[in-house]
Amino acid sequence: MTSKPKIIIIYESYHHHNTEKVAHILAQRLQADLYKPSKIKPAQLLNYDSIGIGTGIYFSKPHHKIHSFLDKLPLLSNKKSFLFTTSGNINTRYIQGVVQKIISKMGGKGLKVIDSFSIKGWDTFGPLRLVGGINRGHPDLKDLYNAELFANKLLNEL
Ligand SMILES: Cc1cc2nc3c(=O)[nH]c(=O)nc-3n(C[C@H](O)[C@H](O)[C@H](O)COP(=O)(O)O)c2cc1C
Repeated sequence: MTSKPKIIIIYESYHHHNTEKVAHILAQRLQADLYKPSKIKPAQLLNYDSIGIGTGIYFSKPHHKIHSFLDKLPLLSNKKSFLFTTSGNINTRYIQGVVQKIISKMGGKGLKVIDSFSIKGWDTFGPLRLVGGINRGHPDLKDLYNAELFANKLLNEL
């Protein structure tokens, strides 16, 4: 594509707004429109060239609003797409499994996922809160810098 692609990012984030921090960096760098699922109709994504999905990981799944938003999407055949996640556990095998499931759900709507970005997010869910949680302070400046690098890479691919 020679002209600048029209990009939209749909994200959900509530626990410590970890994913939201990444979403803002990506949206700014990619000059993308940024929405939570409740603020946009799935069919509106037909108006975009490329689609980003962002979510925290809850019980090894994307946020339920992202899940049902993906279910309601029309076929978006071959639109380029990317995924970003934040989670308490960033064990490579674990996160690859979780991410792969989301990517195949996106693929079911015709989206061509060209890249994904996963980083740790502050997590105080359940008993973890008693010890201040894990990954306190994340995403930190270095994580957000890496998000910017991810966006730079996407700029050449979308
Ligand atoms: C209800 C709940 C369930 C969670 N389940 C998981 C999980 O299964 N695996 C994991 O790695 N992190 C889990 N986490 C941690 C979140 O993925 C992590 O804090 C994430 O960065 C939250 O994103 P947010 O601040 O954008 O909502 C859970 C957090 C909450 C609140």
